[in-house]
Amino acid sequence: MTNKYMYFIANWKMYGGLNSLNSLHKVINFLRKFKKNNFIKIVYCPPHTLIRPMSKKLKNSLINVGAQNCHENDNYGPFTGSVNAKMLKNVGAKFVIIGHSENRLRGENNKLINIKIKSALKVGLKVILCIGETSVEKRKKITKQILSKQIKLGLDKIKNKNKIIIAYEPVWSIGTGIIPKPEDLFNTINFIKKKFKNFKVLYGGSVNTKNINELKLIDNIDGFLIGGASQDSKKFIDIIKKTYI
Ligand code: 13P
Repeated sequence: MTNKYMYFIANWKMYGGLNSLNSLHKVINFLRKFKKNNFIKIVYCPPHTLIRPMSKKLKNSLINVGAQNCHENDNYGPFTGSVNAKMLKNVGAKFVIIGHSENRLRGENNKLINIKIKSALKVGLKVILCIGETSVEKRKKITKQILSKQIKLGLDKIKNKNKIIIAYEPVWSIGTGIIPKPEDLFNTINFIKKKFKNFKVLYGGSVNTKNINELKLIDNIDGFLIGGASQDSKKFIDIIKKTYI
């Protein structure tokens, strides 16, 4: 694990105002001094409202900024309340999370997710495609089918797959404090990597400063997508540090 290239992606969800940027210098400074910083990629995905001020703050740092979703339309248009990929790029985003389960639960399907991914790639954004089974699907033992379908349809007719990272986030694990059993997680990640070759696969769901000690031992994971714990700079730094101890 120690020499592996790892992603630490912070998903702030619908949290944070301008004052939330005040502690970012801690992460910037930590990363500058951290011996393993050549092997780390940190991406902050704040709400749309903070992308611009955050990009300014992180300018000349080793940290990138991403968005949490985008509208599927490539062009400007009459879509009240929406923001498309080119607008995100314009204010400093380099990445965008697409297919998060919180948006799938609100009606986003694999087809829409596929269109969103294409429009994000078109303007040069890197994509973090979220996949994951619900607790009902887990109980029915159809996790593998669900994940395969999400990836297959999500990436339908997409050629430049090297700009896409997959984040496996079991829905039952998000915000619950429960993480998968290590052997289950290893096997699921292994399944994804074997079936869909050459993807980096991250894990997301209740990653925190305690369970990172267990998660870091699962050596086919390429990084973490972190919700709650990423809003606190100290906790976020702690998670990164512990990954490498
Ligand atoms: P939590 O880390 O808060 O469980 O959220 C995970 C997540 O949804 C990241 O995208």
